[in-house]
Amino acid sequence: MNRTPEPTTPIIKILPHVEYCPEGTEVSAPAGTSICEALLDNQINIEHACDLSCACTTCHVIVREGFDSLNELDDNEEELLDRAWGLEP
Ligand code: FES
Repeated sequence: MNRTPEPTTPIIKILPHVEYCPEGTEVSAPAGTSICEALLDNQINIEHACDLSCACTTCHVIVREGFDSLNELDDNEEELLDRAWGLEP
């Protein structure tokens, strides 16, 4: 009998941030969950001025590893990121 393996729940490693998560941590995020949702669900209270409606950039984060596992940016996200502060190349 062949069984389909259970999908694993992705883990997001949060590096220490003096304001939002001083010790750093790891959180699980089921597929389809945004990074912002995963952080907020785990009491990491990043700013999210438009309440996750993708109308601002206050919730943006810097991804150090695992970028290939993310969904493609949609045009709206890409345009908004052009206006975000603190971006890195
Ligand atoms: S809170 Fe994420 S785009 Fe506005």
